[in-house]
Amino acid sequence: MSIGIDKIGLATAKYRLDMADLALARDTDPNKYSVGLMLDSLSIAPITEDIVTLGAAAAEQILTEADRARIDMVIVATESSIDQSKAAAVFIHGLLGIQPFARSLEMKEACYSATAALNYAKLHVASKPDSKVLVIASDIAKYGIGSSGEPTQGSGALAMLVTSQPRILAFNDDNVAQTRDVMDFWRPNYSSTPFVQGMFSTKQYLDCLKTTWAEFQKRNQAQLQDFAAFCFHIPYPKLANKGLNKLLDKSLSEEKVEELKANFQASISYSRQIGNIYTGSLYLGFLSLLENSHSLKAGQKIAFFSYGSGAVAEIFSGQLVAGFEKMLDSNRQAQLDQRQKLTVPAYEKLFFEEAHFDDQGNADFDNYDTHTFALERIDHHQRLYKRKEESYDN
Ligand code: CAA
Repeated sequence: MSIGIDKIGLATAKYRLDMADLALARDTDPNKYSVGLMLDSLSIAPITEDIVTLGAAAAEQILTEADRARIDMVIVATESSIDQSKAAAVFIHGLLGIQPFARSLEMKEACYSATAALNYAKLHVASKPDSKVLVIASDIAKYGIGSSGEPTQGSGALAMLVTSQPRILAFNDDNVAQTRDVMDFWRPNYSSTPFVQGMFSTKQYLDCLKTTWAEFQKRNQAQLQDFAAFCFHIPYPKLANKGLNKLLDKSLSEEKVEELKANFQASISYSRQIGNIYTGSLYLGFLSLLENSHSLKAGQKIAFFSYGSGAVAEIFSGQLVAGFEKMLDSNRQAQLDQRQKLTVPAYEKLFFEEAHFDDQGNADFDNYDTHTFALERIDHHQRLYKRKEESYDN
């Protein structure tokens, strides 16, 4: 039975920071960001947009009433969780009106967990072919003002519907994972921003790629030649580009190298504009590839490299399904272009705003532009979400 990704939705914050403006404010050569990191802008989320609102908005774009009646599992993969106990998936299940007899949970391992979620979804559908699993990768990547990671921040969510007879990508059963206990990037419970050993993290990323790929090739008798594109976890596109260059070898024909490089450029188009969205960034790259490549054809194989600091890496592949192009959104770039541009002081205020609680645990927020859903207020420590046209005061 064929199992894979049937639909993909994307939501990113409605505000953007241009890298050229950040470079000026940080007294940095703009080429360091545009060429050195390959980034043009970042999506900046206000306090009323979080992993729940972004995740729900991404899913809302793709779900029909029939899907809501058939989904029996909702998994949110994230490393910017809003609660240590209650899963974001439970909030999202409610906001989307998914039928009640569903399992909802959250998964964590840095940027890797969406890949684990897709695996769990695949196993679930294999045992119940009529079910549909909603996998959401939702994160807000926030490193702090003036930090080394500041130019690689971002926010966004990918929603993927995993089903049998998928219409976009059929998974191949070839996953190879690797775990190594390293401290390259981590965020203790008491810190709102991560601790990062930046250069060490890039070495771990590239070494996990090299060693996992070697094992993947050995176990699956695979060659790079077999793939039309290689999608990478994209903390910033330049690192993924280094990853691709590490894999290219002399056995490849010139045409194959050209194809892989052109498809790589297609895969980083959205990340260049949105920044790092942690768990979703690999799948943002896949969506960007699908919507920006000029050469992809049904039946071609795509390879995926998932990396989560800490660290867990995984390589797997899938096959494009006939008609996949009909499942895409031709209006995506226009939506990205509509984000409101922020000045650097406005970005600093908006992105790092904290809730101010009264003695009862209540907090109100200013009105900001969000997608379909917004965090309206916190009431006795409970987060209250609304559809934009609704209000808890109505
Ligand atoms: N013009 C053109 N290029 C320039 C330039 C200029 N004026 N100035 C610098 N550059 C280039 C540098 O040569 C360098 O390119 P190479 O890597 O090809 O040598 C590039 O810009 C980056 O510059 P630096 O080496 O000086 O590094 P940096 O100060 O920008 O920091 C970083 C890089 C440490 C990775 C930082 O971005 C960071 O801390 N990021 C957060 C951690 C991260 O993303 N790690 C990635 C692996 S971990 C992971 O994947 C999980 C995750 O999502 C976090």
